[in-house]
Amino acid sequence: MASSLIGRQLVLSLQKNMWLGAAGCRYVSKAAPQTLVECEYDGPSMKTSVPGPRSQELTKQLGEIQNVGAINFFCNYEESRGNYLVDVDGNRMLDIYTQISSIPIGYNHPALLKLMTNPNNLSTLVNRPALGILPPENFPDKITESLISVAPSGMTRVQTMACGSCSNENAYKAMFIWYRNKERGHNTPSEEDLNTCMINKSPGCPDLSILSFMGGFHGRTMGTLATTHSKAIHKLDVPSFDWPIAPFPTLQYPLEEFTRENEQEEARCLEEVEDLIVKWRQKGRPVAGIVIEPIQAEGGDNHASANFFKGLRNIASKHGCAFHVDEVQTGGGTTGKFWAHEHWGMDDPADIVSFSKKLLTGGYYHKYELQADKPYRIFNTWMGDPTKNLILAEVLNVIRREHLLQEVNRSGKVLLNGLYDLQARYPGVLSRARGQGTFCAIDVCSDETRNSILLKARDKGILLGGCGDRSIRFRPALVFKEHHVHMFLNIFNDVLAQIK
Ligand SMILES: Cc1ncc(COP(=O)(O)O)c(C=O)c1O
Repeated sequence: MASSLIGRQLVLSLQKNMWLGAAGCRYVSKAAPQTLVECEYDGPSMKTSVPGPRSQELTKQLGEIQNVGAINFFCNYEESRGNYLVDVDGNRMLDIYTQISSIPIGYNHPALLKLMTNPNNLSTLVNRPALGILPPENFPDKITESLISVAPSGMTRVQTMACGSCSNENAYKAMFIWYRNKERGHNTPSEEDLNTCMINKSPGCPDLSILSFMGGFHGRTMGTLATTHSKAIHKLDVPSFDWPIAPFPTLQYPLEEFTRENEQEEARCLEEVEDLIVKWRQKGRPVAGIVIEPIQAEGGDNHASANFFKGLRNIASKHGCAFHVDEVQTGGGTTGKFWAHEHWGMDDPADIVSFSKKLLTGGYYHKYELQADKPYRIFNTWMGDPTKNLILAEVLNVIRREHLLQEVNRSGKVLLNGLYDLQARYPGVLSRARGQGTFCAIDVCSDETRNSILLKARDKGILLGGCGDRSIRFRPALVFKEHHVHMFLNIFNDVLAQIK
């Protein structure tokens, strides 16, 4: 089915944005010239409210087996294409949330379908190896072609993993192992180390910590959860570590009006980080590593300046802590650079950079020193999935061939300017429009209004996500073009006009 749809090339109207013409008094957003012939639909199309009857039926069926509280609706991935997600009731929605920011080049990209139908790739699809012990012949080449070709500055080593949480979890272990070997001065554990680690006691299981930030999100496994501080529901009833938590800067907007206040706020947070490092060392639980997102995503799209991150990187180096940048949500081009930390303009931005989502495979890059010294210290059965490296290599080709980072910068500018306009039009509802590339967000006056906007937008064919207490986050794929932005802004304006 999908291949027949792919063959049905849809020529987009060059003249006008259909949404502008559809209803009387619409938003001012202009239609961009559409010069592309894409394998994509020309706009949302809604048949039912969402979830429709078929989705409700399936939710009930699955509810007999698992908790379905988080399910939005069921999807028809065969019919979904480009920026459009189609559901089982035949509703077609412009997807600006993309499976929690994890679709790099839209649904059913022809280049990926072609790759998957290539008989040479069949054995990769059919056989899932235990990569840590029995990798396939083409694994070094594929990993070089994919992950190493986009390695962050100063990093030539990468460890693949399955998901974001387990990438971070293993990155933390790598930081602890590195730190203990540094303390010992060598990598040979004592008899006491070996005996005590078996009963969860020091010195084999040392009292070390990872410093994280209030509002941060690094995953839901036991170690990463100790560094996640975005919402109580993620953490409730789960035992955790007593590790230091620093404040993340709360910037005031518009940035250009609050330069001094924001500088002071960032300086305050950096001071607190240094205090915590000293306090935890005195407490006998030294900070082995600092973990931070370049933009706190789940926690509410909280930004900080390049100077803040430079300061933090310097503090980590000064106190001998590893610096781990979690790019699980920001990585892969969505901020207009392949890695969000590139915006800091540093040659040596981090010791570890973790990724997942748009990179399709999880994993982390690291400095040579953070390579675990013995086999099986950083290990699990699958250690990633070679099919994901195969797809990623092609995704990167598409990003280069279609100049998608330039597209992101172009669309991102239009999106952010549109959000500025809308917040000026609806000052009682919207505030704090912010973003980098298409990684944008806006605050809504209350949690309830935010949730109501999300549902109303969905019924009009626009899929968005929430984050933090009352923010809306925009996470389109890299193929989200200027005309998609205008289409979104027009519909979003209609939704806001209803709310006002
Ligand atoms: C910054 C960040 N780190 C880690 C994770 C955890 O990734 P996963 O859900 O794949 O475990 C997420 C997920 O949203 C994330 O945004």
